[in-house]
Amino acid sequence: MTKASDELKSRGDNRSQQPHNDAFRAFMGSDWGPRPAGPQRSAVADFLPARHEALSKLFPGERLVIPAGEPRVRNNDNDYRFRAHSAFSHMSGLGEEKEPGAVLVFNPKPEGGHDVTLYFFPRSSRSSEEFYADAKHGEFWVGARPSLEDVHTLTGIKTDHIDNLRDALSKDLGQVQLRVLPQSDAEIEALVSELRQAAGIDDGAEARDLKLAEKLAELRLRKDSWEVQEMRKAIRATYDGFEQIIAELPRATQAPPRGERVVEGAFAANAREQGNGLGYETIAASGNHANTLHWMTNDGPVKDGDLILVDAGVELDSLYTADITRTLPVNGKFTDAQREVYQVVLDAANRALEVAGQAGARFRDLHSAAMEVLAKALENWGMLPGTAEESLAPTGQFHRRWMPHGTSHHLGLDVHDCAAARREMYVDAFLEPGMIFTIEPGLYFRADDLKVPERFRGIGVRIEDDILRTQNGAERLSEFIPREVDDIESWMAGIWNK
Ligand code: GLY
Ligand code: MN
Ligand code: MN
Repeated sequence: MTKASDELKSRGDNRSQQPHNDAFRAFMGSDWGPRPAGPQRSAVADFLPARHEALSKLFPGERLVIPAGEPRVRNNDNDYRFRAHSAFSHMSGLGEEKEPGAVLVFNPKPEGGHDVTLYFFPRSSRSSEEFYADAKHGEFWVGARPSLEDVHTLTGIKTDHIDNLRDALSKDLGQVQLRVLPQSDAEIEALVSELRQAAGIDDGAEARDLKLAEKLAELRLRKDSWEVQEMRKAIRATYDGFEQIIAELPRATQAPPRGERVVEGAFAANAREQGNGLGYETIAASGNHANTLHWMTNDGPVKDGDLILVDAGVELDSLYTADITRTLPVNGKFTDAQREVYQVVLDAANRALEVAGQAGARFRDLHSAAMEVLAKALENWGMLPGTAEESLAPTGQFHRRWMPHGTSHHLGLDVHDCAAARREMYVDAFLEPGMIFTIEPGLYFRADDLKVPERFRGIGVRIEDDILRTQNGAERLSEFIPREVDDIESWMAGIWNK
């Protein structure tokens, strides 16, 4: 943080009328009962050594710094809820709001491999002023922070006080190279930069840091069995959220002009109840709003006779998120025109899923498979300037007017997971067991698009599912969330007739 932002943040102290005398501190520090027992070892702890070893092998002899990050300022001394950088979470196993300001350090061992230590600000004793007067760390303000022992028990990782970080990072610099994960914690990046300059090892540092980010992303391309379980839970919680939405749809239609907010709110309430919250901002797009790809304003009406496109995902306490889209008829029944468009998108999704399970399939083949189905339908509807084949050629691509986004992305701790991976490891890569990705074709027929047959104008459809590539094929992890036309209609009727 800059000096000015630090100063602005601390201006809130001008309002403080806290007493600071010794008698008061002694009074506050006395007569507290015993603390509850600390945490148990978490299930993810058993999976961390393999993740650490995989990273260690990529950077022999180098010191690696992976900060959790700090809470971001919302305004003045009000922060957004803290959420750690996903690379930190992956390597530490810490989710929820744990642990702002923490830093994971991989320190090279002379005999090879790395020692891994988690540096953070543990709770202080109740006899300190921090206990009641420090709004950032104090127990009166943020609850009892974990001790060094607590976090060690929870994760199995060695822990140390953040005050010892500078010394740990400085040791033998020059002989040892130092890399830091960028875009996570500006203060730690600045510290690393200062230490590198002092040791004369700053040349090419940016590229080295970028390489660390890239490798941390690529190590998440294949999920371990614990991660797959978390993804199953996230999708199950998201399913519950869609059920809450359907239950609230009748009220949404009676709440003009902001029925979309009713839908957004229903999903958000469930996401906070079951998980850490939303994996990303919910898109609740009714009628023609579905044709605005990132419609997150969600302040429109939900009208009987329209479709509503909802793209939403629950992020669990572990920070793994689902990413599901369903397009639902607001009154429970698709019209003929809606059904016709919907079925084409569903056919495209099914075709991509088929390819996802084939031996030798590459990530980019999913998109091509879906585009072939969509282009053929657009040709049949007379919407293309030539044939589907001509459109699918690189010199054509006319079908993309109605499907401008990608068909798939990796999914996990981030909704667009592993985004820092190289192209050859992502779109050009072969699908491998353990990869989890979306399939999400759509057709977007804007109300003012004169190239669209009149009966389709204002209809926007996307269907998005979360897929696990397995040894022998592909599993649609979200298969229990209805998506066939008839299944959606009976799902909605079932909830309304309960
Ligand atoms: N919800 C963002 C996406 O589908 O990629
Ligand atoms: Mn998606
Ligand atoms: Mn989505």
